[in-house]
Amino acid sequence: MLSEFMLDPGYLNLNHGSFGSTPRPVISAQQSYVEQCEARPDIWYRKEYKTLLAEAREATAKLVGADPDNLVLLENASAAVNGIFRSLSLEPGDIFIYFSTAYAMVKHTAGFLSLDRGIKIIEVPITLPIGTAEESFVAPMRDALAALSDDEKARVRMVTLSHISSVPAFEEPVKELADVIKASNPETLVLVDGAHALGQIPIDIGSLGDIDYYLSNAHKWLFTPKAAAFLWTRSDRIEEYRPQPTVISSENNVLAGIEYTARYAYTGTKDFTSYIAVKDAISYRKTLGGEEAIMEYTTGLARQAGDLLVAKWGTARLSDSSFEANLFNVILPTDDFALAQAMQEALLETDGIYMLALQDAASGIVYTRLSSQVYLELGDFDAVGDKVLAFLNKS
Ligand SMILES: Cc1ncc(COP(=O)(O)O)c(C=O)c1O
Repeated sequence: MLSEFMLDPGYLNLNHGSFGSTPRPVISAQQSYVEQCEARPDIWYRKEYKTLLAEAREATAKLVGADPDNLVLLENASAAVNGIFRSLSLEPGDIFIYFSTAYAMVKHTAGFLSLDRGIKIIEVPITLPIGTAEESFVAPMRDALAALSDDEKARVRMVTLSHISSVPAFEEPVKELADVIKASNPETLVLVDGAHALGQIPIDIGSLGDIDYYLSNAHKWLFTPKAAAFLWTRSDRIEEYRPQPTVISSENNVLAGIEYTARYAYTGTKDFTSYIAVKDAISYRKTLGGEEAIMEYTTGLARQAGDLLVAKWGTARLSDSSFEANLFNVILPTDDFALAQAMQEALLETDGIYMLALQDAASGIVYTRLSSQVYLELGDFDAVGDKVLAFLNKS
């Protein structure tokens, strides 16, 4: 599979999760849209693009069990979260909640709202190592909400969950968490940041319980070109939630009122071909056997590679492997973070291996978050495991 991707032959990508990598056939499909656009610019932007965009939205909606009328394509998870957070009408003292494992962009966007609109932020700590879903995720959220006064509970406007968090990577029990949040205040909005989910795990939005927004990148695990993501908003309350993209364009006459999907269809002149290529990525994945077959391989490889590294390094995972899919977290065989960072640099410099060295701020645990992918095999992880030991033994 490696030759299907444009990865440098001297580069071993063990961090697919951060920026993804796109197969050549999908890049070629995107290139054909670029040519179509450049051939007849007005016809592209005014007609062809819109028709293809509707098809791409429909293909994405089908994949995640959603209605295409309340699903839009946009550039990335950051744009989705920024648009949602900053579209809300907020009062000083309104409360936003997230786990300590929320992505930095979520924290920073809420941070901006705390400066700009006086919201309060509550960060619920996730403590390593992870126990059961109830112990590590549901109970901390329940306790954080229970600690609030009735007035504060009524002011919790937004809780952001991660379907799969970034660092460390854990699949969160979204449905159970949504139940706990809505039991505290049915009006609290639940946004699920699924940036890592599409293409990594099956998504069925309807089965995620009482959530209000769901978003995922497509350029991470679905193999689309950069940048492409989707945002789903609960259909019965779209007007009330007022979602707007981060850029209000000439086609988005907010005062006249414009239908939800049209707001996001054109956000000023730019290259939208990556959005269209979502449908080509979905078709390409069918040629590999489809979503289930891909996930069976990648998640199976992650499980095996995690077991292999834990045994080789004499360490442990940060959680039971049931919290992991293609992303997995293994404790490194050193607790010296500076040394682990030097190792990350050395592996890149001498062997062209890209492997993250990370540290959990609260516990000090030094670990790596690895990505399995169709272009990797167990031997890749075996070899890297040995190189890590060789570096640490020499140092
Ligand atoms: C959980 C999570 N949310 C959001 C993002 C942001 O994605 P993007 O940079 O594509 O906006 C990331 C990126 O790694 C992420 O891991």
